[in-house]
Amino acid sequence: MLKHFTLDGKRIPFAEGQTIMDAAMAAGEYIPHLCHNPEFAPHGSCRVCTVKLNGRRVAACTAPALDGAEVENDTDELRDERRTLLQLLFIEGNHICPACDKSGNCQLQALAYYCGMTAPEFTHRYPLRPLDASHPDFVIDFNRCILCELCVRASRDADGKSVFAIHGRGIQAHLAIDSPSGKLGDSKLHKEDRAASVCPVGAILPKHTGYAVPIGERLYDRKPISVAGDVSDHRKDSS
Ligand code: SF4
Ligand code: FES
Repeated sequence: MLKHFTLDGKRIPFAEGQTIMDAAMAAGEYIPHLCHNPEFAPHGSCRVCTVKLNGRRVAACTAPALDGAEVENDTDELRDERRTLLQLLFIEGNHICPACDKSGNCQLQALAYYCGMTAPEFTHRYPLRPLDASHPDFVIDFNRCILCELCVRASRDADGKSVFAIHGRGIQAHLAIDSPSGKLGDSKLHKEDRAASVCPVGAILPKHTGYAVPIGERLYDRKPISVAGDVSDHRKDSS
C-alpha cells in the first residue's frame, strides 16, 4: 500500500525507497534543484532542493520520504535561502548571461528568476579560468561550471567513460578532464555521449551552433522552470 506525506499541505503518495524529490516529481510537484537529474544517482551537493521535513532542513533529492511527514517547500523562508545560494553560485564564477549561448535555456538563470533574484548582493570574485575549445564538437568554459557533477555521473554511469572528474576540495575544487593533455580534444567525449548534453548551465556547449533559438522563444522564455522542468528534458529543442 502506498504511503503519503504532505508537501506544502498537498498529499503526495510514495513507494518505499523513494526520496522526497522522487515522489514530488512523480506527483508533478516542483522542488527547485540544480545537481539533481532523475536519470542519475542523487548527489546532494548544491542544496538548492533543501526543504523542511517535520521542521528539519534536509536535501529533498537525498532524503527518503517518510510516511505522515509534513514537508515545507515553497515558503518565503526557503525561497530566500535558495536565492542566497544562487547568488553565491553567480558570484563564484563568471555567469555573464547576455554573452552566454545557454541564456534562456540555463537552469541556473531560470532558477534565479524563479526565486526572485534580480541582482547579486555579494561581491563578484571574477575568477580567471581557462576556456577549452580543443574538441571538434564542444567547447568547455570552466568559468560557468557550478560543480554539479552531472557530467561526471553521466560520463561514468551512462557512457562508461569517466571523461570528467572533480579535483580538489572547497574553493580549490574544479572540473578536470581525463585525457593525456588534460584537454577535452584529447578525451573520449563523443557528441552522442550523454555527458555532452547533460550540463544544466553553459559550461559544456556544442560548437557549430550559436544563439539558434531567438529571444522570446527559448525554453525558459516560454515557461518558468517550475513548469518547463530540466533543460536536459528538452535536449532537441533547447540548444
Ligand atoms: Fe555540472 Fe556542467 Fe560543471 Fe559538468 S561542466 S560539473 S555538468 S556545471
Ligand atoms: Fe538536491 Fe542539489 S538538487 S542537493
